[in-house]
Amino acid sequence: MTEPVVWVGTGWKMNKTLAEATSYAQTLAQAALPETVQLFILPPHTALATVRAELPASSPVMIGAQNAHWASEGAYTGEISMRMAEDAGATIIEMGHSERRSMFAETDETVALKARAALDAGLVPLICVGEPGDVRAAGEEIEFLSRQVDAALSRVCSSEVRKVIVAYEPIWAIGEDGRPATVDQTAPVMAALAALLARKSDGRGPRALLYGGSVNPQNAGELLTDPTTDGLFVGRSAWQPEGLLEIAQLAAAARVPD
Ligand code: PGA
Repeated sequence: MTEPVVWVGTGWKMNKTLAEATSYAQTLAQAALPETVQLFILPPHTALATVRAELPASSPVMIGAQNAHWASEGAYTGEISMRMAEDAGATIIEMGHSERRSMFAETDETVALKARAALDAGLVPLICVGEPGDVRAAGEEIEFLSRQVDAALSRVCSSEVRKVIVAYEPIWAIGEDGRPATVDQTAPVMAALAALLARKSDGRGPRALLYGGSVNPQNAGELLTDPTTDGLFVGRSAWQPEGLLEIAQLAAAARVPD
């Protein structure tokens, strides 16, 4: 399998009816996608199957779920299992997003359980890590993030790290109230995370190391000047397909294959 040159994906968070999801997927299905960019979209659970059905089977766009439980089945009201997510069309499972950590009791331990369960199900864990603003202000972000990564991968063996996507998402940069990060702020962290992940995988590294948090068409190119950043994980700016496609074009232009 040849890996793409750069990744661009979006989590829709708690947005989109089935009609809106259908329209988004149809736009993607009809668009000319840059071949060097691996696109992925994480719809809400309700829209997974719809998006899967709207995209042609041959579409290179990967689909993922924003959450799934580690248990294979059972009395877990409100949850879906890895197998159910896959059945609905997901090949990626997001975990550890700061919104889930702060609002829905996601912990380092549940992220570790989910990473293990996703790999056991043959799915790609997309593990989000990110420090709060006060940790960044104290200059302790690398220690904080290293602890999150260590914990998330505590049930993953070194040969499996290659199957995992890690997204660095500083909490202070996410959402309407976020302050977009500059490449001067992201690059040292990405380098530290890449080094940590390389150590944990006998030098192989993760499948991809992404940056996310207020990514938009204005800063996408700059963020990708950092060679350690394998791609961008986008929220609001890609909630319309035109936004995702614009950032994908910018990413393709920023990363021309050798
Ligand atoms: P944002 O969201 O781009 O809207 O800041 C990013 C994220 O939470 O992944």
